Amino acid sequence: MIYLNGKFMPVEEAVIPVLDRGFIFGDGVYEVIPVYSRHPFRLQEHLQRLHKSLESIRLDNPHSDDEWRELLTRVIDLNETDDQSLYLQITRGVAKRDHAFPEKTVPTVFISSSPLSPPRDEQLQSGVGAITATDNRWLRCDVKSTALLPNVLLRQLAVDAGCTETLLLRDGLLTEGSASNVFVVKAGVILAPAKSNLMLPGITYDVVLELAQANAIACELRSVTQAELNEADEIWITSSSKEILPVTTLDGRPVGNGKPGPVFQRMHGLYQSYKEQVMRAPS
Ligand code: PDD
Repeated sequence: MIYLNGKFMPVEEAVIPVLDRGFIFGDGVYEVIPVYSRHPFRLQEHLQRLHKSLESIRLDNPHSDDEWRELLTRVIDLNETDDQSLYLQITRGVAKRDHAFPEKTVPTVFISSSPLSPPRDEQLQSGVGAITATDNRWLRCDVKSTALLPNVLLRQLAVDAGCTETLLLRDGLLTEGSASNVFVVKAGVILAPAKSNLMLPGITYDVVLELAQANAIACELRSVTQAELNEADEIWITSSSKEILPVTTLDGRPVGNGKPGPVFQRMHGLYQSYKEQVMRAPS
């Protein structure tokens, strides 16, 4: 069951006019929110980021946070599985094709849910493969825009190489993955690029940093060079759908000893306990 512009319906019945600016221009923003045991994870943070994305594209937020909470709760309730992945998209609505903003258009609001599939045990035990590529995206990667063609093409490079993710380098520095943030571990210290216009401010990224701080695991937010990436003891990718995944081969070469490292093991445990706390909290 999905939500579209004021109505709840089976996904098969949902129809969008072809002149929707999301379809024509990719003129919209989105969020992906994991739901564990029917509890949306870090909902306030996702709603805040959504608000920022809308502001960045000069689109008024069609709903208050309370209204969003209510709509999202309804969608969760209408779907069967306890663990879900909510997808929320807002576009600038339907109008005659013209790049400039239409004068009075009602935004299109869409929320869907699919079963959440956490990383498989085998991925956690052996890690996944990644490749590197030049980050050729625009300079507002902090906006969670639905215009994802560069990310789509970059991610496909990984799939073509039999890998899970493409790690992106701009001017020799790590930015993020095609659909994830990236952490590096060297000599026990977690390194990650500081938030900027060149990466999405990940909700999972924030959780990892908070858990590192709360548990006195050394962490530095700073530029990470291609050489540091190549010489890393550990590399992790994070996202709402992947949680934290260890990368054990990079461009065909083993990362560290080629196995998920001790800092990953620790952080993975902390993350799972944190999730359990969230699931136990009253709705
Ligand atoms: N993507 N960077 C990019 C480019 C992303 O697309 C994502 C997530 C992240 C991680 O953000 P978060 O931890 O808030 O999920 C970083 C989502 C899951 C997607 O597009 O499906």
